Amino acid sequence: MINIALFGPPGAGKGTQSQHLVEKYGLVYISTGDMLRREIANGTEIGKKVKSILEAGGLVDDEYIVYLIEKVIKENEDKNGFLFDGFPRTYVQAYILEGLLQKLHKKLTCMISLQVPTEILKERLLDRAKKEDRSDDTDEIIRVRLEEYEKKTIPVADFYKDKEIYYPVDGTGTIEDVSKRVDAALDEAMKNILLNVVVYGYPGAGKGTQCKRLAEYFDLVYISVGRILREEIERGTELGKRSKPYIEKGILVPDEIVIQVIEDRIRVNPQARGFVFKGFPRTKIQTYIMDGFMEKMHSSISAVVNLDTNPLTCVKRLNKRGKTKQGRTYDENLDFIIQRLQEYEQKTIPVIENFPHKIPLINIDGDDDRDKITQEMIESVQAAFKRS
Ligand code: AP5
Ligand code: MG
Repeated sequence: MINIALFGPPGAGKGTQSQHLVEKYGLVYISTGDMLRREIANGTEIGKKVKSILEAGGLVDDEYIVYLIEKVIKENEDKNGFLFDGFPRTYVQAYILEGLLQKLHKKLTCMISLQVPTEILKERLLDRAKKEDRSDDTDEIIRVRLEEYEKKTIPVADFYKDKEIYYPVDGTGTIEDVSKRVDAALDEAMKNILLNVVVYGYPGAGKGTQCKRLAEYFDLVYISVGRILREEIERGTELGKRSKPYIEKGILVPDEIVIQVIEDRIRVNPQARGFVFKGFPRTKIQTYIMDGFMEKMHSSISAVVNLDTNPLTCVKRLNKRGKTKQGRTYDENLDFIIQRLQEYEQKTIPVIENFPHKIPLINIDGDDDRDKITQEMIESVQAAFKRS
């Protein structure tokens, strides 16, 4: 999901570059200028109220703008993302957009600002006047629009500079030249999108091995609550002592412990590109907790992988591991192994089947060869990242 705001003075090429971006990324196009012109053309109540303002080159009241875009955003919540052309146009509107996106658990990926000298802007708009019939493309009104831009719109850039998502782009040259620069700026901006993967599979399915490889390949931070707690137990920390009775028996630790572990991992990795979550969320309640984490990071899950392994293979693998140095206390006891598999079937499989995020589940044959699994996983996750 990417949400872009195209910024720039009248004639900078916002509308022109929008066509390219909408096509390339499959975004929902929201041009407040076009929407207002449609209202006027259709003679609606709003159209009647704003007509004189557009004709004079002034800015329309925020309430009309919010009314128009709120509806479109809500109707297209599940799409790839939005492209805003000509909005936000005032400092107040920047706050309005924050609020609107937050309500939908989304955020703006970047503001791309097209920079073009005033002389070229005037030339382009007067040239457009010959081809298109826009009542505001006259010498006098262009001057007013440029003044409005200087006075009211330029401060919006500071809002996004502070958030470090402001990308200035040279808007001169041919349309194709500008598109290339816009693409490069977007590539840069997209590096800041977190990529999060959730990996499921029965105990013994090989999640640990594959998660580590996946995290390494995509340069993500691997979070295994189980592994972290085992380390805490070894170090004899407070957290270790609290989780020991659960871990030893192979039963689920209380959610407050899980939250503490994950929160901590996220906090100590502020530069992370994203996270690989091993077997989390594991219960319905934990899906809400996961939503909470994502909301806090302004992020979302990009891929969910299920290592589909025969439970009998898992029992054999765990039983075998129990006889080695890597064996866990709960591997040594067949009752514990079976209990963990049962718990997974009862609590986790329903979570996988009803995963609340709108992304398809990637099923991988976990009985396959280790390297083949890794290869298949990397390819599917890569495709999922591209889609997200
Ligand atoms: P709006 O429709 O947004 O107009 P604008 O901001 O003045 O911008 P333009 O549409 O004129 O320019 P553009 O940057 O899209 O350039 P384009 O691609 O067309 O707003 C109109 C009015 O609505 C406002 O004045 C206001 O009253 C109201 N309004 C809108 N949003 C509002 C909001 N949020 N709050 C309050 N009021 C709001 O390119 C221009 C020309 O140049 C074209 O002919 C194009 O073919 C050509 N061109 C483009 N790129 C190139 C290039 N690289 N080389 C040569 N020619 C090029
Ligand atoms: Mg336009």
